[in-house]
Amino acid sequence: MNLNIALLKGDGIGPEIVDSAVRVLEVIGEKYGHKFTFTPYDIGGCAIDKHGMPLPEETVKGCLEADSVLLGAVGGPKWDTLPGNMRPEKALLGIRAAMNLFTNLRPAKLYPALKDECPLRADIVENGFDIMIVRELTGGIYFGERGMREGKYGEEAYDTECYSRMEIERIARVAFESAKKRRGKLISIDKANVLESSRLWRKVVHEIAEEYPEVECTDMLVDNAAMQLVRNPAQFDVIVTSNMFGDILSDEASQITGSIGMLPSASLNETTKGLYEPIHGSAPDIAGQNKANPIATILSGAMMLLYSFNLAKESEAIVKAVDKVLEAGYRTADLAHGAESLGTKEITDKIIECI
Ligand code: IPM
Ligand code: MN
Repeated sequence: MNLNIALLKGDGIGPEIVDSAVRVLEVIGEKYGHKFTFTPYDIGGCAIDKHGMPLPEETVKGCLEADSVLLGAVGGPKWDTLPGNMRPEKALLGIRAAMNLFTNLRPAKLYPALKDECPLRADIVENGFDIMIVRELTGGIYFGERGMREGKYGEEAYDTECYSRMEIERIARVAFESAKKRRGKLISIDKANVLESSRLWRKVVHEIAEEYPEVECTDMLVDNAAMQLVRNPAQFDVIVTSNMFGDILSDEASQITGSIGMLPSASLNETTKGLYEPIHGSAPDIAGQNKANPIATILSGAMMLLYSFNLAKESEAIVKAVDKVLEAGYRTADLAHGAESLGTKEITDKIIECI
């Protein structure tokens, strides 16, 4: 296959980790006979510096024309004091909206080799866990009406959570399809005891559940879910939830896998085009030092091969190579506890050796 991939390296450790993933994809291309063409575009803080805006038109165009998009991370202290709509993070929301990426898949599984990294008691994670978080990504409070106004007590700010039936239906279907291919269990997370938007969410999820009798679907309130994730993570198979609840719960889920440096994500729309990125941020404190863990980005590349290009064998080859490297005891600094560790480039070399 000939595939065009837009690269959004972004800020901080973004360029290093994307370079690692590109090297891995190139090796996969050689081995399996595919040609990947990578075209970089500016996004985030570096785009603010160069173009005066976090998401230049050219970047949006490049992403829309590419077969798929690989993103590193955006943001850093340099741009933290800019107004809301000029912040690097705004570019992420912008590209999600521009590509209509309403589905965000965030798998969180415990690697047997990393069991000791898990902050939970050994008996809690004895049997491991393997969770797929399906987060709605283009709706809810992230995109609702917001503003400033004069209220009862003077100046006030507001953001609104709003979900349409259509938005809930389409994300629910993605989640049911995912559960069908996995262990057949879906937990829909909401705050239906308080929020009107959650009550519609729950009602619509139940309606879609009728189409999937083979999937066991239950509801869970988000506060309870936050607790259950650390009490008994193995009870979760697929989770479906709103944009903001998914943001928060996916960070929690990542931490119990041992390191946020391990978790990839896929943001998808109704086409095969997607945007793939690690769930961690730009880690400006270690940028440019060859210290970052590139595994989340490399695994994001593996998700791209699977979800956008339907290259299951090639995707699996990357996942297996990462497993092997971890099993062999190689670690980046985030997982090494001060013991000897490999740099970004060196762990990438090891992964490539295993492909
Ligand atoms: C994420 C990030 C983003 C989000 C921020 C940077 C806008 O935290 O991808 O989880 O909240 O979606
Ligand atoms: Mn987040």
